[in-house]
Amino acid sequence: MFLLKKGVDLSTLIQNQRQQESIIGFVPTMGALHDGHLSLLERSKSNQHFTICSIFVNPTQFNNAEDLTNYPRTLESDLRLLSESGLCDAVFVPSTEEMYPNGTIISEMLDLGHLETIFEGRYRPQHFQGVAEIVGKLLQLVQPDYLYMGQKDYQQCMVIQKLIALKKFPVQLITCPIRRESDGLAMSSRNRRLTPTQRSLAGLLYQCLVSIQAQQEHKDFATVQKECMELLEKKGIQPDYVALADAESLAPLDNYDLSKKMIALIAGSIGNIRLIDNLML
Ligand code: PAJ
Repeated sequence: MFLLKKGVDLSTLIQNQRQQESIIGFVPTMGALHDGHLSLLERSKSNQHFTICSIFVNPTQFNNAEDLTNYPRTLESDLRLLSESGLCDAVFVPSTEEMYPNGTIISEMLDLGHLETIFEGRYRPQHFQGVAEIVGKLLQLVQPDYLYMGQKDYQQCMVIQKLIALKKFPVQLITCPIRRESDGLAMSSRNRRLTPTQRSLAGLLYQCLVSIQAQQEHKDFATVQKECMELLEKKGIQPDYVALADAESLAPLDNYDLSKKMIALIAGSIGNIRLIDNLML
């Protein structure tokens, strides 16, 4: 596995791979790697792509300074995991100066439409502009044929699809399924910050999604939504939203519409750890 810290070294490696007619698959991450991340690499590898992973905790996407400070950083064990997995051909670990030579600013605000004002956009102002900024920079450097991202961050995938269209990047986005723990909790780097008591509560988020799915032919969504919010609050999870949306456009839905492909979305905090999840109905 190649380890690269500089964009110029990455470009040289990519040029060499292009000469060998490799197809390049790219998995951007912020590290603290878990099986969810590995599942993306697995998918790229199983498609026989020269697989590049990046690890970079991107300051411009954190709307909360405390969240950035507390974000888990486990580079040594990440590199060991990547190397031992045999799923990664090259890992790019740039410094902040490497990615933001002119300071940690967003160079261009994109028109992300309603994606910026709903769900995560509403609760994390500027977050998606920061995500688009860094993924745009990484796509320019890596120039992959395929970009692998997780459905776990469904709205993020839609933002990146929009970025690809706006910037005409010649890359295909592949959205991969959510990897879960045995109680249904979606794997996340933030899970490792949960205390054992908090961890035992966290599976409730997924249970809410499952109940939204199970009740779609029996109840109004407003009723199920209220039940979920009350349950979460009673157990000590502060919900930001329990929502239903059109899975194609992410337009929020007030009620179930069985003629549409729907997605249920949830976000809530346990202590100061904010978790998100979703489920296709
Ligand atoms: P990070 O949270 O590290 O996630 C990296 C990729 O792993 C994302 O595409 C995310 O959706 C995917 N992922 C996370 N948990 C997953 C799970 N349980 N199952 C499947 N895939 C999962 O998302 C980011 O980093 C950043 O915003 C980034 C895109 C790297 C830009 O900084």
